[in-house]
Amino acid sequence: MIAISFKNLRKVFVKSGKQFDALCDVSFDVKEGEFFGLLGPNGAGKTSLINILGGISNPTFGTVEVFGLDVTEVPERTKRLLGIVPQELVFDPFFTVKETLKIQSGLFGIRDNNLWIEECLVELGLTEQANANMRALSGGMKRRVLIAQALVHKPPIIVLDEPTAGVDIDLRESLWLFIKKLNKLGHTIILTTHYLEEAEMLCERAAFMFKGKLSSVEDISLLSKSDGGIKEVFKNMSVR
Ligand SMILES: Nc1ncnc2c1ncn2[C@@H]1O[C@H](COP(=O)(O)OP(=O)(O)OP(=O)(O)O)[C@@H](O)[C@H]1O
Ligand SMILES: [Mg+2]
Repeated sequence: MIAISFKNLRKVFVKSGKQFDALCDVSFDVKEGEFFGLLGPNGAGKTSLINILGGISNPTFGTVEVFGLDVTEVPERTKRLLGIVPQELVFDPFFTVKETLKIQSGLFGIRDNNLWIEECLVELGLTEQANANMRALSGGMKRRVLIAQALVHKPPIIVLDEPTAGVDIDLRESLWLFIKKLNKLGHTIILTTHYLEEAEMLCERAAFMFKGKLSSVEDISLLSKSDGGIKEVFKNMSVR
């Protein structure tokens, strides 16, 4: 089954009075259960694509479907199917970590979520910070909470927009173990990262984006290491 289908997606922004395409006719599918990479240099359009998927921004043209549901037609339904870890650190400074996760559960109408919240805190190494105020956390710790926040409603699709930026080696490793476990349990994972080794190690397939265009979708296991693997695809893409 297809988890996400991007169809002829276009996003036009106005920059210095001029129109430009942040996304230009992007089409590809992500299959249910896949560990899928979204790769490309700064400004390639990765976050723009994720924002449309999450219903934060509307496409100028084209559609996105989540399990066959259009994200602009039934956003209240598709948002339940998605857990998005945003690239930017956004948080409410007035709450503790646990309160933040309880409030997020409430937004999805889940009342008694303590067991799952505890499990997320343990898996993400946040137990000691559970009762700390959000503003007192370091950047990496805030990112861990954002990850937990995206998981409170156990979404079938988890989207991680550069989750390991500014994160120490310990969390990086425990985070991948946790995400891999969720993937084994059947969750579809979409990951953007600038660490190509990370993508090579984790992803089954990846979409390569450059200047708003889809360059190619590659089966990672079929990329020959002796030919430079994922790094070579990345390099060739940027000179196209
Ligand atoms: N709200 C906006 N208004 C105008 N331009 C925007 C807006 N959001 C993004 N852009 C532009 O769209 C292009 C794509 O940006 P986007 O954030 O999607 O890239 P990205 O692939 O996520 O990059 P990065 O790796 O740096 O996160 C960039 O040129 C960016 O400046
Ligand atoms: Mg981005």
